[in-house]
Amino acid sequence: MLTSGNISKLRRLLKNIRKKDAVIGLVPTMGALHDGHISLVRQAKKDCDYVVVTIFVNPTQFCVGEDFNKYPRTLAQDKKLLISAGADMLFIPRTTQMYHHDNSVYVDEGDLSRGLCGAVRPGHFKGVCTVVAKLFNIITPDIAYFGQKDYQQVCVIKRMVRDLDFSVSVKVCPTVREDDSLAMSSRNRYLSSQERAKAVILSRALMAGRSMINNGEVSVHKVTGAMRDIVSRCEDVKIDYLEIRTADNLQELSRISGNVVLLGAVKIGSTRLIDNILVKARKG
Ligand code: PAJ
Repeated sequence: MLTSGNISKLRRLLKNIRKKDAVIGLVPTMGALHDGHISLVRQAKKDCDYVVVTIFVNPTQFCVGEDFNKYPRTLAQDKKLLISAGADMLFIPRTTQMYHHDNSVYVDEGDLSRGLCGAVRPGHFKGVCTVVAKLFNIITPDIAYFGQKDYQQVCVIKRMVRDLDFSVSVKVCPTVREDDSLAMSSRNRYLSSQERAKAVILSRALMAGRSMINNGEVSVHKVTGAMRDIVSRCEDVKIDYLEIRTADNLQELSRISGNVVLLGAVKIGSTRLIDNILVKARKG
């Protein structure tokens, strides 16, 4: 696996790869890799001739007071995982490579990014869009891989690709979960063993919501109420949001119909966890 932190060098290498008509896949990450990230790399390996993985803890997507400084950095282990998953290239730029000291141009999506996580993390998706747009420009992949785990992020990035005419297809891969159904996340390492035991409540609540919808419940109020009840019974877990939105464009609804997404964010101690489940409501 080639490793580089230099944009010009990376561009030169990729120019040669592209001459061979290779299909290039991109898997952007912030490192501290787990099986969720690796599932994206494996999918990219299946679809593409050449897979570029990026590891960059992007400062612009962390809000003031968030965990940028303590975000886990496990590069040696990450490299081992990427080699065994068959990644062809690892791009690990320094912040100074990615952002000029007087950087003044950002990409800001103005609709889908405003609610849910965007409401409590102002500027987060602006940082995400900016860094992903930069990575698209630097690597010019044919296909870029993202996890359903960050559902709002996927919606925002798809909108950015559409509205700014990026020539890349966005492929969304399913959420990889621990045995007890907790969605894998780099931030799960922050949890103490007691907190880890409680963390499963988020996916349990979402699954309970899904069962209600599968059994014919159409009231958003009732399903979100039931999900809230489940999480509220768990001491020390604070609900940030538990919502049901349309799956394609995250619109609010009052009656459940068609493809919907159940989304949740909770705080356990100082750790914020998110998760979601897609559900197709029964007809009629
Ligand atoms: P990060 O949190 O490192 O996630 C990188 C990619 O892995 C994202 O597309 C995310 O949705 C996916 N992922 C994380 N956990 C997953 C799981 N349990 N199952 C499947 N996929 C999972 O998301 C980011 O980084 C950043 O915002 C980034 C897009 C790299 C921009 O900085």
